[in-house]
Amino acid sequence: MTLYQATASAPVNIACIKYWGKRDTKLILPTNSSLSVTLDQDHLRSTTTSRADPSFERDRLWLNGKEEDIKAGGRTATCITEMKRLRKQEVEDKQPNEPKISEYSVHIASFNNFPTAAGLASSASGFAALVSSLAQLYHLPVSPSTLSLIARQGSGSACRSLFGGFVAWEMGSASDGSDSYAVEVAPQAHWPDLHALICVVSDDKKGTSSTSGMQRTVETSPLLQHRIKEVVPKRMKDISKAILDKDFDSFARITMADSNQFHAVALDTEPPIFYMNDVSKSIIALIVEYNRVSVANGGGYKAAYTYDAGPNAVIYAPKENIKEIIQLIVKYFPQHEGLFKDVFGLFGGADLNSQGG
Ligand code: DP6
Repeated sequence: MTLYQATASAPVNIACIKYWGKRDTKLILPTNSSLSVTLDQDHLRSTTTSRADPSFERDRLWLNGKEEDIKAGGRTATCITEMKRLRKQEVEDKQPNEPKISEYSVHIASFNNFPTAAGLASSASGFAALVSSLAQLYHLPVSPSTLSLIARQGSGSACRSLFGGFVAWEMGSASDGSDSYAVEVAPQAHWPDLHALICVVSDDKKGTSSTSGMQRTVETSPLLQHRIKEVVPKRMKDISKAILDKDFDSFARITMADSNQFHAVALDTEPPIFYMNDVSKSIIALIVEYNRVSVANGGGYKAAYTYDAGPNAVIYAPKENIKEIIQLIVKYFPQHEGLFKDVFGLFGGADLNSQGG
């Protein structure tokens, strides 16, 4: 008897240009393009094993050991259905001798090695790992960009975790979403000196989910319209150039400005949404001062902060500054000592690791 099983893992990504707003909530088509850095070094990953078997009666999913409902028509169901469709289209219809495993139900078990829903984008690595493990299980001969079209329908930001390094999610314009996918801007090896420090300010489950928060912003924020039309298109070009030029000053300036504007549109939402807490704001003040002193002494920017839909800071900095930044943070926030992780290594996106098949 053949065992149809595969395991894949995918890392978290942290956006420098934030995705915040959908023009189509079912297909998950964004109101603006976004750009992120894929983190790694094993700390922040989802690892997912999928198995297909003719004896399985229905698709089932376990997250961190606990079974979750797969809602009919929901995001997980959509991703599984789309992957089965791709298997049929790309493998079974073309090679009639291949087993018709797209007709079997699947059992999927996924583990995160970091707190879920703490503003650390667990849905991004989770859906990227889910799609990657099914792609492996089904032996799909397709590109990461093609898989990103499906991961996107699990969670928008997940489409960017199919690649390592620096990744853009092009918003596209087609109403069926066929041109809204992730592309690599530069691989990990392009700028290995760039590191990220994750400051876990709180690992509580966040108050307003990204999904409902961004929808409220789309419906109520006048500032969002300015952001998506005037601000983001230029920032996408400028930060791509900064990355290609390894220009940390420009990268840092744009990253911090975009984090600020994302939190500004959250505040401009009715009722307003606050994701950062007092510790988050103090870390901003610290990084601003750290950069100010460096620039005043004739140097450049030394660090850039960014915050997603939660209070945790991600600090991008050249590797040589990381130690000093940790020392500063531990000095000013002693009660939080031990909560900071120097994670990084611009790693290679989804790491496929087949078992059987
Ligand atoms: C602030 O991808 O979690 O992290 O598509 O509804 O699942 P859904 O939202 P999600 O939103 C992420 C928002 C963000 C910014 C970003 O990652 O670009």
